[in-house]
Amino acid sequence: MSDPIQVLVMVGSLRRASLNRQAALAAERLKPEGMTLEFADLSAIPPYNQDVQDQGSPKPVQTLCAQLARADAVLFVSPEYNYSMPGVLKNAIDWASRDPAQPFKGKAAAIMGASPGMLGTARMQYHLRQTLVFLDAHPLNRPEVMIAQANKKFDAAGNLTDETTTKLIRGLLEALADWVRQLKR
Ligand code: FNR
Repeated sequence: MSDPIQVLVMVGSLRRASLNRQAALAAERLKPEGMTLEFADLSAIPPYNQDVQDQGSPKPVQTLCAQLARADAVLFVSPEYNYSMPGVLKNAIDWASRDPAQPFKGKAAAIMGASPGMLGTARMQYHLRQTLVFLDAHPLNRPEVMIAQANKKFDAAGNLTDETTTKLIRGLLEALADWVRQLKR
């Protein structure tokens, strides 16, 4: 029996009907046995300000850092905004990156994203990978899960209905589990 794997999910959209949140919820259903997903709440994280940090990190930032510290891996599920990461996600990463414990360092990571457009967040994903280099995290290279025309891939209740995307998300989480075990060895 393999060790359990704890994954922290960071969703880059705060909107209620977010396609990316729906994709993250699909991941919850498709995860392999032994994997647990915890969802970070990025909604209460204030804009990064070193003056605020100097007074002590705000509670939502402390919570995020504690969640990161106990996670074996991070799953980023994010839209692309203006060819890059949404500010909400980048801001949360920026706060956590100032934690002296360096919670992203050496951490396994996986990325996926959904967009109504044709490229399925490709440009966001490569910007996020660049940031992960600086953080010294270990993002999984493949599979790349870029959910294009995502507005056609979920039903009215938010359930993922697309077979190919289902297989891709399942494959990503299985590869992430293997990656975590590989990095631990
Ligand atoms: C977008 N959108 C978008 N889509 C894309 O494929 N590439 C992009 O660069 C952008 N840029 C962009 C900027 C801003 C500010 C917004 C609000 C939107 C469209 C985006 O993919 C779409 O709104 C998604 O549905 C957002 O993800 P959620 O909220 O559904 O998860």
